[in-house]
Amino acid sequence: MHMFSACLCIAVLRAVHAGDDGNKGLHVGHAGVNNRGHAHGGSCTADPEAPVVVSLTGSFRGSCMTSRRGRTFEAYRGIRYAEPPVGILRFQPPKPIHKYWHVVNASEDGPSCPQPINPGRYYDEDCLRLNVYTPRRNSSKLPVVVFIHQGGLYSASSRSDIIGPQYLMDRDIVLVTINYRLGSLGFLSTGDAYAPGNNGFKDQVAALRWVQRNIAAFGGDPTCVTIAGYSSGSYSVALHMVSPMSRGLFHRAISMSGSPYSQIEIPYHQRHLAEKQARLVGCPTDNSRVILDCLKSVPWRDIGNSLGGFAEFAFDPVRIWRPVIEQDFGQEVFMPRHPLEALRLGQLYAVPYIVSQTRDEFFWKAFTILQNATLTQQMNDDWYRVAKIAFMLPEDSRTAAYKIREAYFKGKPVVNDTVTTYSLGRLYGDAVTGFGAHRLANIMCRVSPQSVYYYQFSYIGNHSFYEDPITKKPVGVAHHDDLIYLFSIRVRFPDIGLSGPDAALVDKMTAIWYNFARYGDPNPRPATPELATLHWPAMTSQSRRYLRLANNFTILHNQAEDRFQLWDQLFPLLYNTWILPATIVPFF
Ligand SMILES: *[C@@H]1O[C@H](CO)[C@@H](O)[C@H](O)[C@H]1NC(C)=O
Ligand SMILES: *[C@@H]1O[C@H](CO)[C@@H](O)[C@H](O)[C@H]1NC(C)=O
Ligand SMILES: *[C@@H]1O[C@H](CO)[C@@H](O)[C@H](O)[C@H]1NC(C)=O
Ligand SMILES: *[C@@H]1O[C@H](CO)[C@@H](O)[C@H](O)[C@H]1NC(C)=O
Ligand SMILES: *[C@@H]1O[C@H](CO)[C@@H](O)[C@H](O)[C@H]1NC(C)=O
Ligand SMILES: *[C@@H]1O[C@H](CO)[C@@H](O)[C@H](O)[C@H]1NC(C)=O
Repeated sequence: MHMFSACLCIAVLRAVHAGDDGNKGLHVGHAGVNNRGHAHGGSCTADPEAPVVVSLTGSFRGSCMTSRRGRTFEAYRGIRYAEPPVGILRFQPPKPIHKYWHVVNASEDGPSCPQPINPGRYYDEDCLRLNVYTPRRNSSKLPVVVFIHQGGLYSASSRSDIIGPQYLMDRDIVLVTINYRLGSLGFLSTGDAYAPGNNGFKDQVAALRWVQRNIAAFGGDPTCVTIAGYSSGSYSVALHMVSPMSRGLFHRAISMSGSPYSQIEIPYHQRHLAEKQARLVGCPTDNSRVILDCLKSVPWRDIGNSLGGFAEFAFDPVRIWRPVIEQDFGQEVFMPRHPLEALRLGQLYAVPYIVSQTRDEFFWKAFTILQNATLTQQMNDDWYRVAKIAFMLPEDSRTAAYKIREAYFKGKPVVNDTVTTYSLGRLYGDAVTGFGAHRLANIMCRVSPQSVYYYQFSYIGNHSFYEDPITKKPVGVAHHDDLIYLFSIRVRFPDIGLSGPDAALVDKMTAIWYNFARYGDPNPRPATPELATLHWPAMTSQSRRYLRLANNFTILHNQAEDRFQLWDQLFPLLYNTWILPATIVPFF
C-alpha cells in the first residue's frame, strides 16, 4: 500500500542561491513585461487593472477581485491547460500545453463545456480551461485546493459565477477550479481503440499536471495540493486515488456526495450510449468508425443539446456516463481495472480524506414523480423496469428491486401522500448518492493508513438547491447544499454577507477546508477560532464516528447504517476480509 507522509505545508522561506533551481517559478511580484513590451506591475497592489504572473511556461495577465471580507486577491481565469479539443482532437485524450508563447489574457471566465444551452451563458467546445485565485504572492508557498465541479459528468462548469472564489479567498490558500469535457464529448466509449473512454478524467489529470508545473508561480505549494470535488467531482476524486495517472499529483482529498463504490456498476464500455448519441444527432451506428467519423462532424451545440434524449424515465437516470475499465490500445490508461480491484491490489494512493453526504440528498425527486399522476402510475405498473432506471440497479436486479420496495414502501404502491413522499425521497437519496458515500467512507477507513473524516451536512439556511416552489424556502438538506457555504454561486443565490447563521457557517466551512488543506486535519488551530467547539475524530472500522455539521458540531456514530444495511446486504462487499487481516471484526 502506498503511504504518503503528510506534508505540513508550513510556510518556509527557501534558501535561494544564485543559479539554484529552488526559486524557479518564484519570479512574481516583480515587474512583468507584457507582449507589447510595456513594463507591468506584478500584483493587485502594483497594478489593480492587470496583475501578471510569470511562470516557467508563460505569462498570465489576470484581474483583481474582492473576497467576502474585503481582501483583494488575484484571479487568473479561463487559462487553457490543454489544446482546444476541437476538429481532429475531438474524442482524443487532452493534449497538454507546455509553453505559452504570448501573454495569456486570463482576465475573464472561459466558456463552459458543451451541454444544453442556457440562454445568456457562454459555452464553447474550446473549454479546457482552469482558473487560479490567489490572495498574495510571496516566497511562502500556500496550500493549493483544486476543485472538480459537480454536474453528473454532463453539466455545470467552473466559471466564477457557479464556483465563485470569494469565500475561500479569505483564507490563505491558492484555489484552482477546473473544467473538463462533459457528456459524449468527454466520456464516449466504444470499447475499442476508436474511443477507449475516460477522456474527461484525463482532462482532470492534465489540469493537475498543469498545477504541478505552474502553481508555484502563483504562490501555491505544488507539494501540498488538495483535490476536492462534489457529486461527479467527488466521484472523480475517489477515482484519482486509484488511478495510475494521478499518483503524486495531490496530497489530500475531499469527496462530497459522490462515490464510485455503490450498486451502480462500472462497465468496460458504454457502447450503447455511443450508439444512442449517434441516433440522437442522426448519425449511423453500424460500427465504431462510422459513429466516430460522423460524430466528429456534428456541431458541438447539437451534441450538448441532445442530453434530454438520454432520459429513460422522467429525468432519470441521474447518472448516465460512467468511468469505464479501459483496455490498453496503446493510449495512456486512466482506469486499467475496477477501483475495488485496484484497492485489493494495494494501489490506493492514500492521503488524508474527508468524505461526506447531505442529510436528505435527492429527496426532492419524490415530488417530481408523485406530483405527476402519469409518472406515479408508471412507477407502480412497471416497478421493475422503472426501479432499475431510477435507482440505477445492476442488470440482474429483480430481487433487489423487490426487496427495496418491501423495505421503503412495505410493499405498497407509491401514492401522493406524506409518508410515501418521505420514503421515495429517501430511496432516491440513498440510491443516487447516499449508499455510495456510505460505502466510500467505510472502505476508506479500513484500507487507508491515512485519516478519514466523515461528515453529514445537516444545515438548513436561507437557501437550498431545492426550494419549495410556493414558499421559496428550503424544506430539506439537498444535494449540493454544502457548496452554498464554500462558494459564491451567483447564478443561483445572492452572496452571503458577514452576519447571521449562514455567514457563521461560511466561516466554519472555509476554516475546515483551510486547516485540512494545510495540515491534513480539519480540527481547530489557533488561527481558526470559529472551530473552537470542533473535536472531529477520524472514522475507524471499530468506531465509525462522524460529524453532524449544522448550526453546531455534533459527533455521532454509524451514519444511517440502519438504512444502508439493506443496501450492503443486496450488494455485498465484505469490507474487511478481502484486504485486511481476518482478525478485524466484519462490518455486519
Ligand atoms: C482579454 O479578454 C477579454 C475577454 O475576451 C477582452 O474583453 C479584453 O479586451 C482582453 N484584454 C486584452 C488586453 O486583450
Ligand atoms: C507572505 O505570506 C505569509 C503567509 O501567508 C505571510 O505571513 C507574510 O506576511 C507574507 N509576507 C509578505 C511580505 O507579504
Ligand atoms: C408528467 O410527466 C410526463 C412524463 O415526463 C410529462 O410528459 C408530463 O408533462 C408531466 N405532467 C405534468 C402535469 O407535469
Ligand atoms: C400531490 O399532493 C400535493 C400535496 O398535497 C398536491 O399539491 C398535488 O396536487 C398532488 N398531485 C397529484 C398529481 O395528485
Ligand atoms: C438570511 O438572510 C438575511 C438577509 O441577508 C440575514 O439577515 C439572515 O441572517 C439570513 N439568515 C440566516 C439563517 O443566515
Ligand atoms: C445542535 O444542532 C441540532 C440540529 O440543528 C439541534 O437539534 C441541537 O439541539 C443542537 N444542539 C445544541 C447543544 O445546541
